[in-house]
Amino acid sequence: MAPGRLTVVGTGIKLAAHATVEARATIEQADKVHYLVAEPATGQWIRSLNYRARSLHDLFVDGKPRVDIYAEVVERILASVRNGLWVCAAFYGHPGVFVRPAQDALDRARREGHRAEMLPAVSALDCLFADLGIDPGREGAQIAEASELLRRGRVPDTATHVILLQIGLIGLSRHTPRAVSTGGLALLAGMLARHYPGQHPAVVYEAAQYATCAPRIGWATVETLAAAPVSQFTTLWLPPRERPSLDARMVERIAALAVEEHVRA
Ligand SMILES: C[S@@+](CC[C@H](N)C(=O)[O-])C[C@H]1O[C@@H](n2cnc3c(N)ncnc32)[C@H](O)[C@@H]1O
Repeated sequence: MAPGRLTVVGTGIKLAAHATVEARATIEQADKVHYLVAEPATGQWIRSLNYRARSLHDLFVDGKPRVDIYAEVVERILASVRNGLWVCAAFYGHPGVFVRPAQDALDRARREGHRAEMLPAVSALDCLFADLGIDPGREGAQIAEASELLRRGRVPDTATHVILLQIGLIGLSRHTPRAVSTGGLALLAGMLARHYPGQHPAVVYEAAQYATCAPRIGWATVETLAAAPVSQFTTLWLPPRERPSLDARMVERIAALAVEEHVRA
């Protein structure tokens, strides 16, 4: 059997509007499409592009450990690739941003000798930068999965933008549609309170999934975060608490580099 090919694409966050030209062309032309998206209309849109497209949602059985579901997602995608087909795996957002089965499928496909690539797409983070007017080039950004940050005892870098994903899913290791962990959010808020003043802004953000909707931007504070309404699609943004002062010696050394360049030119 000739090797197969796997192309992992993202559909972006906003229905159809965020899909890149190359992602759309891949969905249209692939022999087989497996998709996992956040809402049904995107699934319909994918099926309108390719009648061979099939949802992976049936693998998401209530109460099943998420790691087991992800392993089955990878297995189903790989089974098609092993048949020598050009397979497109489509995930919502950017397929390389917090999508474990996408990366696992690519790794497995490569190890088994198939051609495999990922195409970039619009993620919730991209929407957040646009909707909240943040440019991470100024203060930098610390981006993490909320559970991982807590589990590993990492501390937020208060001099940068802190962006935490999956704040509604802390401690939920099984698939439970629409469930939100209020205990987990309280744990997170408690940890943040050790590093920020109570009145520090903590913004709960949901990018719009449809062109006719606005993003949800909920201004809470570190003190009120535990009671903020969140869903499985909420991302948290904390602006920097302070701007570090300049390192005078390093500023001088950098300035000297510029003089050197000038002299050389
Ligand atoms: C498994 S990750 C998938 C991220 C996705 N691949 C992306 O590129 O944005 C799920 C997390 O992404 C964030 N997310 C997904 N959809 C979102 C939205 N519409 N608005 C804000 N954050 C979102 C939330 O933090 C959510 O818990």
